Amino acid sequence: MANNLYKQKILILDFGSQYTQLIARRIREAKVYCEIHPFNMSLQKIQAFSPKGIILSGGPASIYDQDAPLADPEVLNLGVPIFGICYGMQIITHMLGGEVAKASNREYGSASISFKDATIFQGLNKNEELRVWMSHGDRINRIPDGFRILASSENSPVAAMADLEKGFFGVQFHPEVVHTPDGPAILKNFLFRVCGCQATWTMSSFADRTINQLRDIIGHDRVICGLSGGVDSSVTAVLLHKAIGDQLSCIFVDNGLLREGEAQEVMELFQKHYTMNLHLVDASELFLNNLNDVKDPEKKRKIIGRDFINVFEKKARELGSAKYLAQGTLYPDVIESVSFKGPSATIKSHHNVGGLPEVMELELIEPLKELFKDEVRAVGRELNLPGKLLVRHPFPGPGLAIRIMGKVTKKRLGVLRAADIIVFEEIMAAGLYEEVWQSFAVLLPIKTVGVMGDERTYENVVAVRIVDSLDAMTANWSRVPYEVLEKISSRIINNVPGVNRVVYDISSKPPSTIEWE
Ligand code: XMP
Repeated sequence: MANNLYKQKILILDFGSQYTQLIARRIREAKVYCEIHPFNMSLQKIQAFSPKGIILSGGPASIYDQDAPLADPEVLNLGVPIFGICYGMQIITHMLGGEVAKASNREYGSASISFKDATIFQGLNKNEELRVWMSHGDRINRIPDGFRILASSENSPVAAMADLEKGFFGVQFHPEVVHTPDGPAILKNFLFRVCGCQATWTMSSFADRTINQLRDIIGHDRVICGLSGGVDSSVTAVLLHKAIGDQLSCIFVDNGLLREGEAQEVMELFQKHYTMNLHLVDASELFLNNLNDVKDPEKKRKIIGRDFINVFEKKARELGSAKYLAQGTLYPDVIESVSFKGPSATIKSHHNVGGLPEVMELELIEPLKELFKDEVRAVGRELNLPGKLLVRHPFPGPGLAIRIMGKVTKKRLGVLRAADIIVFEEIMAAGLYEEVWQSFAVLLPIKTVGVMGDERTYENVVAVRIVDSLDAMTANWSRVPYEVLEKISSRIINNVPGVNRVVYDISSKPPSTIEWE
């Protein structure tokens, strides 16, 4: 099966919708491989990609905009089924001679549609209205020749249309978002009934195939991998270890900014359990010295990023000549760099191992670069990684330094670690750990007055941040039960010296961010 894995490919042309990644996820969940490419992908490249079907995503533009993004019209002559979503549907209409009407106002939110023709609605109940999510300005006034209307809503007479002969479909709503409960069924009808795909994209076939491929590519050369204890680098390391065993050397840098017990846990798992070549570099003194007196968040991030590269590089050179550097890059990072997006302001400079390959003149190996986070977790399960590691919350590269507002000192790190582990334990005990996206403590640089017994206290404030999110692009503060918050608060105040007040962060992203710095 493994070599059959990529035969069933769907191409998603991205017109800039905030939901494009969701389309890809829904298709992958249906066990069909797909890739997102910019809307202006050349015809030659599309042909070389050889998709079984093409999806045109939504997008913020209007077909009437001066430089409205358009696909190569020849896309419609490839003999490949096409599914246009929202703006994608308007493009199909526009290119095939139908009429798109300029909207005077937007339709945004939940709507009900009724469908007349089964086709992509097969398996759904015709007598019931379907709930769908609309987010569009323009709408279809006249469908192109050869098309028929499949579904309508009150506001959108053409909520879905098709040219059944050519296998062209268009929907005005967004089947990829959760607010369209039957969206996955509609997309599956397109994949399996229209395009003739088979559900062969599974994570066990991915793991086998990747391990074989890594073996072929690497041969007898050596690979260096930075291990952080997070899901991505752990899965990368285990795939490589299975492929090349002792030719892999992992480096784990203790920057002194880790959570309680983290360094020991990583060493025990990977060195003892997996018997990997794992080298711990305790560089905490260096990082803390260089952070001395630094308060500015961006400065902290830059210093930590720079120190990490220096420490990692030094250790890698000590270990001898490697040809490759392995990184746990995921698909969303790849899409970010290829997609149709304007330059956006740097909100925070993210610290990962960026910069290392150039500095060290190494070739990059990125075995996870086609996967979404949930797929990486599934690969990890296939590889029998401990469940605890796979469900771990994301932890930023600069570690606790960006959760201590102001100066980072050993003492303040100690206070934050003690508070943070209480948040972790209580969220675990309440069975919420896997429900929420992240939960952690933040140490604030202000003191407030309290009373303990008969004594006045004047101590620090800890903020608790717990958020729900799907991808960290947006997030909502979690509606954690008061009882859980109460326990967190009283345990921190009673047990962590130096803290006499706990506050709960009720800000969403945007406009706030998840981390405080
Ligand atoms: P923000 O604070 O930008 O964070 O809302 C979004 C997600 O990214 C994580 N994060 C980082 N991850 N290196 C990382 O690997 C970093 O420098 C970094 N900064 C933030 C953050 O924990 C959240 O999940």
